[in-house]
Amino acid sequence: MTAITDSYCVAGNPVAHSRSPWIHARFAQLTGQALSYERTLVALDGFTAFVQNFAAAGGKGCNVTVPFKLQAAELAISASERVRLAGAANTLIFSGSGIHAENTDGLGLVADITRNAGVTINGRDVLLLGAGGAAAGALGSLLEEKPRRIVVVNRTYAKAQALVEQHANIALLHKVELQVIDKQALEADLTQNFDIIINATASSLGGAEVPAPASVLRAGSLAYDMMYGPAAKPFLDWASAHGAVARDGLGMLVEQAAESFALWRGVRPPSAQVLAELRELLQATTAH
Ligand code: ATR
Repeated sequence: MTAITDSYCVAGNPVAHSRSPWIHARFAQLTGQALSYERTLVALDGFTAFVQNFAAAGGKGCNVTVPFKLQAAELAISASERVRLAGAANTLIFSGSGIHAENTDGLGLVADITRNAGVTINGRDVLLLGAGGAAAGALGSLLEEKPRRIVVVNRTYAKAQALVEQHANIALLHKVELQVIDKQALEADLTQNFDIIINATASSLGGAEVPAPASVLRAGSLAYDMMYGPAAKPFLDWASAHGAVARDGLGMLVEQAAESFALWRGVRPPSAQVLAELRELLQATTAH
């Protein structure tokens, strides 16, 4: 007789590169949870139908990645405040009452910075580079940590302005100074520097230069790229060369998965251990 296990998946297009099945399988092993977690390539026009079919077939939930995070937020019957602020969801929970949407990306980022890197966000000065989906997913959670100040800088100023306006109330609530600075103004003003610099742009994918001047770094600043692997390298090399502590987004990936796992299963997995294991695995595979 085969044991019945709850099924989950990550839905995206492309999705072949996703490390989520490995991460969730390891979480399940380490917490003794019986579940399956598949990688599912979904047709670009087939996301809603896929989710409905997966739920009807008994699926318990899914992670959502590019390019479906907006659609995931829209199709849910209920969504968290984080989803509303980000306009995007990366986690769907199927229950008797319907589909609930969550966004654990920002929580994952904050957990990696504060717990794994041991850097306090509370009371500090933060620079957020970018105003696309990745930045939108993170800003609400960063504000909840009550930094002193968050400055958003983006190639397209109007997008940064819209993102900041969207978060104005929550910034007020947490007494955080939330501002947009024009990219040229940032380059001209050498007094603007930060404790934590987060790269949420896709600039390195296109081979463009780092989207900030080195004057934003203080000695010992944390320079964090939400990407990992070769995509993060230009930013991390730039940060290290200027005396900052460079950190890639692998921990964010594992921690956002841990938040999803905890929501689905009611059990918190040992994410720091799984991050260490994944880092070792990736180093071993790139070394050969
Ligand atoms: P994601 O979901 O990864 O955030 P996105 O929503 O397309 O993807 O956003 C990409 C971000 O990277 C945006 O902030 C984008 O700037 P624009 O708003 O001006 O488009 C930024 N970005 C992409 N290529 C860039 C480049 N070459 N230099 C600077 N910023 C870049």
